[in-house]
Parts: sequence; C-alpha cells; structure tokens
Amino acid sequence: MKQIILLSAVLVSLFTSCTPQPAAPSGPTFDEVVTTRRSIRNYDATKTISEAEVRQLLTTTQEAPSWANGQPTKYYVAMTPEKVQAVQELIGDFNKRNVQGAPVLMVSTFENTKSGFFNGQATNEIGEGWGAYDNGVSNAYLVLAARAMGFDTLIMGMRNSDALRTLFNIPESETIMAVISLGYRAAEPNRPGRRPLEEIVTFY
Ligand SMILES: Cc1cc2nc3c(=O)[nH]c(=O)nc-3n(C[C@H](O)[C@H](O)[C@H](O)COP(=O)(O)O)c2cc1C
Repeated sequence: MKQIILLSAVLVSLFTSCTPQPAAPSGPTFDEVVTTRRSIRNYDATKTISEAEVRQLLTTTQEAPSWANGQPTKYYVAMTPEKVQAVQELIGDFNKRNVQGAPVLMVSTFENTKSGFFNGQATNEIGEGWGAYDNGVSNAYLVLAARAMGFDTLIMGMRNSDALRTLFNIPESETIMAVISLGYRAAEPNRPGRRPLEEIVTFY
C-alpha cells in the first residue's frame, strides 16, 4: 500500500512539474525559415498584425533556452499608431526611415542579476553578460519564429535606451537591449555575405 501511495505521488509530481511538449508546427521548413529571414528595412504599410498574432509569436519565442530556465527576457510591444510613432522617434534617423510601415515595434530587455547569478552573486566572469546572452537567444527565436509565420523583422541596437525606459516605464532592474520591428517586407532584400567558415571555426 505504502509503495502504491509513493508511486502515485511520484507520478502526480511528474505530471504537474512538466508542461506538455507543444505540437510540432506545420509550415515552412527550418532551412526555408533561416534562408529567407533577412533584416528588413522596407515594410509594406498596407498590412497589419493582430495582437493575437504577436501573442502566438511570443509564445513560440518562450521556447528559447535560458540560464537555469530563468527566462530573463521581456518584451514591451508597441502596437497603437501613437506608441509605434513614439518608438520610431527613439531609434535614430536611419532606423526610423527603415521601419516606416512596420505595424509593431518591440523593446527587448532582460531582468538583471538573474542569468549567471546565484544568491545575488555572479557565478563566473561573464556576469550580466549571461543576461545579454539569453536575451540574444530569445531574440533569435523571435526573428526565426516571425519568419515562420510569414512576418519580417529588423533587430536594432541603435536606440535611445533612456528615453525608451521612460516611454515604457521600464524599471532600472532591467537592461534595455534591442528594438525589433515586426511587419511584412515590401521588397526582396539582398543577402549580406558571410565570412568563410574557415575564419570562424577551428576543428581539433
Ligand atoms: C545586435 C544587433 C543590432 C543590430 N542593429 C541594427 C540597427 O540598429 N540598424 C540596422 O539597420 N540593422 C541592425 N542590425 C541588423 C544587422 O545589420 C544584420 O543582421 C546584418 O547586416 C546581417 O544581415 P541579415 O540580418 O539580413 O542576415 C543589428 C543586428 C543585430 C544582431
């Protein structure tokens, strides 16, 4: 009897501590997603994106790995024309010009002292770099998931973080990283070249 109770307790804890694996998505192949994703600097202003679609995109993005599954990355999503325009003013003239027509602009942050930290202490020399690392992994998931949904993106590191903090009331406990546009491409972009593999890989 005691063994049955113990087994039941183990089974219950197994089912409650894990959530089911999401069903494999149907759609373009991984190769198609990766090869057609580009930084888009020319958007089709006639096309819109719904909040439900952004929620679906960010739900997929949440599958990204992170340090101890701490999930430090956060997104502040501008969707109303007023908020989108306000963000456009804070990304510099070059980026502002290039994201005209993109219906969504997202500010990506990470919560400090989470990734790479234990009991408030940095676990190694990378320190808050692990938060930035996790943020980049999350952003990579986002831009690929967006492409799989037929959307296009531009990651922007040129932005006014102080003004964005004020605009979205982002607490000092978060580091502001990129602004990411979301929309539909208006024209096919060129593919910027990549370094020869030999320059970036060392085999032993
Ligand atoms: C962290 C980061 C910051 C970037 N910042 C900008 C930016 O401010 N403006 C811009 O036009 N592109 C920006 N880019 C896009 C890169 O220029 C682009 O990814 C690169 O040229 C390769 O092109 P591809 O994305 O089309 O493959 C950024 C990309 C990353 C990952």
